[in-house]
Amino acid sequence: MIILGINDVGHHNSAASIVIDGQLVASIEEERISRIKMDNAYPHQAIAEALAIAGVTAEQVDVVALAGLSRWDQKPYVDTLFKYMAKVAKQEPDIKKFYWNQQPARLTRLFKQRQKPAGVLADKPTQTVEHHLAHAASAYYASPFADERVAVISLDGVGDFSWGSVWLGEHGKLQQIEYLPYLNSIGLLYSAVTIYLGFKATRHEGKVLGLAAFGNPEPLLSRLLAHTNQTDWANLFDARLARIALQFAKEVGQSALRELCDGLSKEDVAAGIQAYTEHLICAWIQLQAQQLGVNKLAVAGGVFANVKLNQRLLALPEIDNIYVHPNMGDGGLATGAAYEVYSRLQNGLTPKLQPHVYLGTEINRENALAALEKSGLAYSEPENLSYRVAELLAAGKVVARAAGKMEYGPRALGNRTVMASCQDKNINQWLNEKFARTEFMPFAPVIIEEQAHAYFPDWQADHVAARFMTLTYDASSVAQRNIPAAVHVDNTARPQVIRRVDNPAYYDIINDYYRLTGVASVINTSFNMHEEPIVRTAEEAIQAFQAAQLDALILDGFLITNVDANLFA
Ligand SMILES: [Fe+2]
Repeated sequence: MIILGINDVGHHNSAASIVIDGQLVASIEEERISRIKMDNAYPHQAIAEALAIAGVTAEQVDVVALAGLSRWDQKPYVDTLFKYMAKVAKQEPDIKKFYWNQQPARLTRLFKQRQKPAGVLADKPTQTVEHHLAHAASAYYASPFADERVAVISLDGVGDFSWGSVWLGEHGKLQQIEYLPYLNSIGLLYSAVTIYLGFKATRHEGKVLGLAAFGNPEPLLSRLLAHTNQTDWANLFDARLARIALQFAKEVGQSALRELCDGLSKEDVAAGIQAYTEHLICAWIQLQAQQLGVNKLAVAGGVFANVKLNQRLLALPEIDNIYVHPNMGDGGLATGAAYEVYSRLQNGLTPKLQPHVYLGTEINRENALAALEKSGLAYSEPENLSYRVAELLAAGKVVARAAGKMEYGPRALGNRTVMASCQDKNINQWLNEKFARTEFMPFAPVIIEEQAHAYFPDWQADHVAARFMTLTYDASSVAQRNIPAAVHVDNTARPQVIRRVDNPAYYDIINDYYRLTGVASVINTSFNMHEEPIVRTAEEAIQAFQAAQLDALILDGFLITNVDANLFA
């Protein structure tokens, strides 16, 4: 059975996925093709590309799975929101104003028709999957927890008028436990702080997380907790915090936040919101795990892009293991919707770990050669490519790798990646300048699995989440000594733990680097220019290589260098 999953909800990260007989075989976000970061346009191009990657035609698709409810089906959630607004409006006149201003739109929006996919797809049987169920399905069905009872949790800013949900995953099905109402969204509060600190919401929360390690969390944490009802998550925020969540990007919300952050440095504000997020969500998930009697977590939703939060969750005494869907943001909804519809139609789907994220457009020998010929660049095809690249890295050179299928999700994990030695701390500043980036967290390392435990003592072989760079670990003294550039001021790092079976050509480079230098890890950062999506095609890889003036580029099996040939003499 072939299911086409589509995320067309219109906020951000429009995407398409193909699930065949319960297995995810292709997925791509519209941004990678349109080159508009987090593009929210209808994903026509992504649909066509996902079909091509999967090698199926539109005619062969059996069912279309749409992430997100239709406007009409959202009505009960909208009604709940307005009821809640009416309650808190008594304390916040600005919410009252908003409540009345939105009444006409509340009705007219119900009748807005949803856009249909083009051609024969428009006539295919279609099912919709609620936003948080799609997140939950992406986490559960792609997880390694086939035979266990699992707490499946989604948390994000907002989707289908909720900011989170809890499910029990068991016997290949999801049983709904709880939904969290919109105006208590810690995700939106975090986004409000992101804007307050001068960054872009839904895009730069990671910068706030990086900045947090430099500050004192206490003042803002106490102020926020004074407005929080920790024992009742249906009424978590008081009217003041609800005002910020409701209008997080507008003056109404930002002015309330300014008062709360009065007199605090940017670092202290970042540290405060991060501590608040970790404190509340860890306590709440601990409670969920206790009530459900489970010790495994499968999670998705933008909140779980917070790698530090994920580390804290894994450290909870109740939790043995956590699986974070590699495309935890809304780009993963297309996949979740497709899984869920398959499960519905087949009366369940046993979870099976999605073994890799190489699900996008492919750079192969043929299109790499064509792009190289067009560029006029000199290139070679070394037999011992991995060793040659390891030599370059050991000599302090920066090497990009664009080969095979593009990664699914926000992280580059070897196929659209820039590598550099992480033995010199200055590489962070230097690389950020090269890519015109502002980051407060150091670049993340990739490490061969055989050495992961020596560098990150808490890492265990069944921590599959670490293969997808979705959580931080405390660094050992070996890591502090060998890869100082990848260790943050709070002594954590966010490794990609790689096994040879996952990506042999990429693994071999790091392993050869290890043999040359005694260091089992290099920096791995995404191959993209400032604020642009990750490169997709061979042509884009060559353009980015030239624009950033990198030292070398691996394009499929070819090597292009700007480095003096004497290095290899
Ligand atoms: Fe979401």
